[in-house]
Amino acid sequence: MQKPCLKEAKKRTNNMVFTKNYQIDESLKTLGIGKKYFIRTYGCQMNEHDTENIKAILEDMNFIETNDMESADLILLNTCAIRENAHNKVFGMIGRIKHLKEKKPNIIAGICGCMAQEEVVVDEILNKYNWLNLVFGTHNIANLPNLLKKVYDGEKQIEVYSIEGDIIEEIPAKRDSKYKAWVNIMYGCDKFCTYCIVPYTRGKQRSRKMNDIIKEVQELKNQGYKEVTLLGQNVNAYGKDLDSNYDMSDLLEAVANTKIARVRFITSHPWDFTDKMIEIIKKHDNIMPYIHLPLQSGSNRILKLMGRRYTKESYLKLFNKLKEIPNVAITTDIIVGFPGETEEDFQETLEVVKTCKYDSAFTFIFSAREGTPASKMIDNTSLEDKEKRLHKLNEYVNKYALKANQKYLNKEVLVLLESKSNKNDFLMGYTENMKLVNVKADSKFLGQIVKVKITDVKTWSMDGEIILPNTK
Ligand code: 5AD
Ligand code: SF4
Repeated sequence: MQKPCLKEAKKRTNNMVFTKNYQIDESLKTLGIGKKYFIRTYGCQMNEHDTENIKAILEDMNFIETNDMESADLILLNTCAIRENAHNKVFGMIGRIKHLKEKKPNIIAGICGCMAQEEVVVDEILNKYNWLNLVFGTHNIANLPNLLKKVYDGEKQIEVYSIEGDIIEEIPAKRDSKYKAWVNIMYGCDKFCTYCIVPYTRGKQRSRKMNDIIKEVQELKNQGYKEVTLLGQNVNAYGKDLDSNYDMSDLLEAVANTKIARVRFITSHPWDFTDKMIEIIKKHDNIMPYIHLPLQSGSNRILKLMGRRYTKESYLKLFNKLKEIPNVAITTDIIVGFPGETEEDFQETLEVVKTCKYDSAFTFIFSAREGTPASKMIDNTSLEDKEKRLHKLNEYVNKYALKANQKYLNKEVLVLLESKSNKNDFLMGYTENMKLVNVKADSKFLGQIVKVKITDVKTWSMDGEIILPNTK
């Protein structure tokens, strides 16, 4: 048993990170024959992409996917630890699985992802949910075949490394989309914002080598993919941990030079956003003009307590530079009710929102995460007041989101049609700057980037009609 350890997870070592290739023993490829798996994913795109890897590994072992948990032989929850409500959802689901397991004791059930990296969670599982068969961490995905073999041999498996793992290349992926793909460019995070659990659950920053990333993008392009999103907790710091002379702007340029139709990247930290990156974004038409730039707070006092390493003034300076990218959309993340946040601090956040008029924002109430510095800070604000602040903030966020969309009424935009929409006879997709559009179009246009005229706008989506098929 290898349990997670918070003390270890806090350490940043100088250990070399090795790159290895994924391998599976031929004998394990028959383990899943005749068995169905069900996997539920919580959290961010990083987790969604991990799930794509887990699915492909399971299918390599001949498990078959089912969307019906009741009929599954293997149930996995790929969990998120970022806020308490993500936690609670997972424990609710574990309760449902328990009922199922009482009826069908042969079901194998396990959890993985960020919650599996938390010492408190694994202790709770061992105490209260000891019937779970498998717990594996974010650094242990490539070892899933061996872990499952032991589980099917009757042993409970807990394998969670707290110290960062190596980079494993060539893990297969069963991608959700045939047209757009996630591409990890780095793992982990070294920023240690005081509220955030990610540096503990995902380990120290480890960048993939540029050649490996370009090879993956090239292969995706050859398979017909139109869009890649470069993924990392803090993509702008890409390469800083490598013994190399390239950085995020060089990587962006190299990915753009593959000539794949669309290149995106998330998430940016304002601290590492260089002028060179902005120039590269402006220079290449296939780097999409969409930037997610988390603000978190508009009060310098709170930003300091959060350990964000920028001020309201330097954020706004960067924001204004980014606004010069033609047709750019900028979105953000904001936390209200951070420990010690006063009404004046909150008003400062609102002022920044009124200045930036974001295209959209994800807004959260602070959630204390065990082991983070902020969880020990004195927090005198009542939940009721925090909810009021969130409500007020959302009023502004929604107002500006609608205004940003209204600019597009009767205008032409380019949309990558990626799937059927919930609306009958409509397909859905995103504009270059990440606006969701429902397009009245035949399904033969799926996977194409088409010109669309916007006919109606709402706060979170727009409707449109195809003008000319554009087989870019
Ligand atoms: N409480 C509330 N929100 C959080 N986030 C990260 N940690 C916390 C927390 N402890 C938010 C931040 C981050 C987004 C992914 O989640 O805004 O940018
Ligand atoms: Fe959740 Fe963060 Fe883990 Fe993503 S990296 S799943 S947001 S805790």
